[in-house]
Amino acid sequence: MIKAVRGTRDLLPPDTDLWNRVETICREVFALYNFHEIRTPIFEETQLFARGVGEDTDIVSKEMFTWDDRARAQSEKSQSLSLRPENTAGVVRAYIEHKLGETGKLQKLYYIGPQFRRERPQKGRYRQFYQIGAEVLGPPSAGSESPARDAEILEMLATLLDRAGINGWMLYLNSVGCTNDRPRYLAALRDALADVKDKMCEDCQRRAETNPLRVLDCKKPQDQPIIAKLPRISDYLDEDCRKHFAEVQNILTACGVPFSLNDRLVRGLDYYTRTAFEFTHGNLGAQNAILGGGRYDGLSEALGGPKAPGIGFAIGEDRFIMALAGENAEQYKAKPPQVYIAPMGSGMNAHAARLARELRNAGITVELGDEAFRLKKSFETAEKQGITHVLIVGENEVRTDSFAVKNLQSGEQISVARTDLARRLAA
Ligand code: HAM
Repeated sequence: MIKAVRGTRDLLPPDTDLWNRVETICREVFALYNFHEIRTPIFEETQLFARGVGEDTDIVSKEMFTWDDRARAQSEKSQSLSLRPENTAGVVRAYIEHKLGETGKLQKLYYIGPQFRRERPQKGRYRQFYQIGAEVLGPPSAGSESPARDAEILEMLATLLDRAGINGWMLYLNSVGCTNDRPRYLAALRDALADVKDKMCEDCQRRAETNPLRVLDCKKPQDQPIIAKLPRISDYLDEDCRKHFAEVQNILTACGVPFSLNDRLVRGLDYYTRTAFEFTHGNLGAQNAILGGGRYDGLSEALGGPKAPGIGFAIGEDRFIMALAGENAEQYKAKPPQVYIAPMGSGMNAHAARLARELRNAGITVELGDEAFRLKKSFETAEKQGITHVLIVGENEVRTDSFAVKNLQSGEQISVARTDLARRLAA
């Protein structure tokens, strides 16, 4: 038997009802904040991620699904392509390619779709997973650099999580500085690590060379006392970064959005500058980050584009659903159809189909049976789906144009004229 590939999975009903509900809530909230959807391809040139996300990140160096796409005609070139491990690089590529900066406006874009990372699968971690994300970017003259944008994104997320019924989320906030102050911090970090890295785990020893910021992210208990004594990025922020970060916090406080500062929060992608954040949730266990994001003021230029500071986030939809399933999933269950139509006997399928068409056009949700079923089987089928009303289509009914409607809960059965059916069933 052929099964779904390790780290991928099928999403089936009724779970997909919950997924759709979550996506609908997100689209509603995005609309309230004037965000519009962008859809970019699920694969891109490998170079985009190498330059955008960073060659030395785990995501790019170990986790991408990459292949050589050979030329199929003289007009094509062979190239290295990758399934997208995240979508910010793709959105910024599209921003540059379509010259969206020339509109002079802020671009407020959201996306919903699959991402791919070859990680070790475990609960809440998949190789194909889904993100619901948003990005705000544009020329500085449009206000893209303002701390008000950071605060608005964070406040929108708080609203979104509250609306979806996710209780007890935590927002962790940090500033990771900019190209001006980061080199000083990295130098201090490298210096400090040179003395202690031999006592740290293998991953940290490697990161100390390739990507020292990532050392701060280490979860190994034995490394924690060492990390606690390393220099802190908050002590190295320059005046502008400090002010920017203070204003983000100021607005959040004014809006009543609770947060905790965590100056070890560095995130796994290289493009971040200034504000970086994660929301966590208790239901998720080890993979407790329900979403993450931050500012990326130099990303557009790194990809050969104009200056276009921006900030965004991506919700891990799989984890969002897990967090919900732990508390509020019941209310999102799709309702059963309003009526089950039971054609009774040969020749009745056509009459039942016509009736179903009329009722559906009137906005009634209908499940349609089959003339080959006995009445008892129709009742049982309806009951199993939680449908409370069965509409019987037999020769008598067709002749009189009046139909028996049985309420399976009360056992009551009444006869309703065709013209009155939709109204009665809606009630
Ligand atoms: P990220 O932190 O790599 O950020 O991913 C965002 C979220 O995606 C995570 O918090 C997690 O919930 C979910 N996620 C990541 N990997 C997996 C996985 N293997 N299985 C299940 N869920 C996963 C980004 O991707 C950035 N592009 C976010 C961003 C947008 N920053 C600025 N704009």
